[in-house]
Amino acid sequence: MNDNLKRYLDKYRKELEQSYNHYFSQLDIPSNLKQSMLYSLEAGGKRLRPILMFVSYEVYGTSIEKVMSSAIALEMVHTYSLIHDDLPAIDDDDYRRGKPTNHKQFNEATAILAGNALLTYSIELISTDPLLSSDEKIQIIQLLTETSGPKGMLAGQILDKGAEKQAVPLEEMERIHALKTGELIRMAIYAGAYLGGASEKQLNHLTEYAYYLGLICQVQDDILDVTGDFSKIGKSVGSDEQNEKSTYPRLLGLDGAIKQKEFYVDKAFNSLRLANAEDSLLTGLTKYISERDH
Ligand code: IPE
Ligand code: IPE
Ligand code: MG
Ligand code: MG
Ligand code: MG
Repeated sequence: MNDNLKRYLDKYRKELEQSYNHYFSQLDIPSNLKQSMLYSLEAGGKRLRPILMFVSYEVYGTSIEKVMSSAIALEMVHTYSLIHDDLPAIDDDDYRRGKPTNHKQFNEATAILAGNALLTYSIELISTDPLLSSDEKIQIIQLLTETSGPKGMLAGQILDKGAEKQAVPLEEMERIHALKTGELIRMAIYAGAYLGGASEKQLNHLTEYAYYLGLICQVQDDILDVTGDFSKIGKSVGSDEQNEKSTYPRLLGLDGAIKQKEFYVDKAFNSLRLANAEDSLLTGLTKYISERDH
């Protein structure tokens, strides 16, 4: 990663973390629920989704304060999706973000409730943000619920569960990955650009970009599940093989998965050009996401 990109990522992460600490400091709820929510949120994810939202906002808009509540909400929803994804009934994983998974650290009941609490609190954050107009709130909440709900991430998660131990063709795997991972990436890109004032044409091209970026994100995640290093990815290597998940490396082999990822990267760059966003940090971020080692 180049130094300029790294500086921006560090700056955005810091702003995000300061801001959600502010929201949590005002939250008067049972302390074990709060601890469990914060445990996963603070475990140190890459914050890709909020960063993508900030960057896509800045292609068209000015101060990122305007997207802060949406960015925190999205990171909370993503974190909830990971807490539930790790549960024994789903992927049954013991490590996440370099620490024991939420249900290992606390217990299953707490992990389920902390996930639900992150989801519902995310909607409260957006609906009470004084910087958003009523129309903007409705648009953002609609986008968040659509992309994370039964038409989006949750659809992907149940299809992914059903595809275990199955031979799934590439088109079906693309559909599953686009739903379970791509939809929240679409939320990040679209919400940022929408609040920044992008035109309808730009929003359409960015939606296409987000589709490919979502696939890139999940192919690389699948690749790292095979080739990654526990100390870097912060989660158990080989989890997909153990669960006989339908992944790109399983279907196409490691080389095939890498080639497929490169195909998506080309497509993503093309859509960025059409959205007049190729000179933005989105270009560097796309490369970083496709080549990351964690
Ligand atoms: C992991 O997402 C799960 C996927 C949807 C691919 P990230 O790789 O963004 O995980 P964190 O947020 O950095 O932990
Ligand atoms: C999860 O995909 C996507 C979600 C919606 C949570 P994975 O199951 O591959 O994510 P990891 O590898 O556990 O982070
Ligand atoms: Mg999973
Ligand atoms: Mg998983
Ligand atoms: Mg994975």
